[in-house]
Amino acid sequence: MTFRQLVLGGAAIVGLSATAFAHSGATGVVKERMGAMKSMGEAIKRIKPMMSGEAGYDAASVRKAAQVIASEAGEALTGKFPEGSTEHPSETLPRTWEEWDRFTALATQLETAAEGLAMAADNGLHGDGHMMGGHAGMMGGNMMGDSSGMMGGGMMMGGDTIPQGISAEHIGQMPADGAFMMVTQSCSACHDRYRQEDG
Ligand code: HEC
Repeated sequence: MTFRQLVLGGAAIVGLSATAFAHSGATGVVKERMGAMKSMGEAIKRIKPMMSGEAGYDAASVRKAAQVIASEAGEALTGKFPEGSTEHPSETLPRTWEEWDRFTALATQLETAAEGLAMAADNGLHGDGHMMGGHAGMMGGNMMGDSSGMMGGGMMMGGDTIPQGISAEHIGQMPADGAFMMVTQSCSACHDRYRQEDG
């Protein structure tokens, strides 16, 4: 699997979630958080084609989308999940509140990744030569090694979460598509565990 396929794979999963927005009848906080999730989904959709090279890269749009996500992440996100709020048509699983610390950590992780993406927007895409000196191979040692060793080997392959303790500043040194992947991984990591699959 190439780096770019990984990016697209992550984005595709999130895209699926976004198209699942068809929940009339939601009220109160459930409606509010669905709306917030939807705006994050739309922000992802707007910039996904840029990450894959299907659309021209525009740093300002990437930054703006990242800021939308950052503003809906962290406490803004967890604040929309009062204990036990699973009323129809919510897809939130009750284990959310049994594992509140973990859920909160994922919301914080998303905030960090999105803030990092906002900072990384000006870096352009991996392989564009901005950072890598035109190094076209994907998970080459360059990217991991040169960035102050913050990312242990195999970080990208590490499954569904981004490395613990990584800061927005670190992510901000990555190519934008790498930072984007961290954002989409954060979305998926939480959905995989706390959001009920659509029928
Ligand atoms: C900390 C956990 C968490 C994170 C991080 C998270 N989500 Fe969600 N998301 C949820 C939960 C839980 C639901 C189900 C909400 C409900 O129906 O009550 C959901 C639902 C959604 C929905 C469906 C909304 C609807 O109308 O039913 C979309 C779209 C979505 N998320 C997009 C995203 C995107 C895009 C990201 C990342 C940028 C993201 N989410 C990050 C937990 C999270």
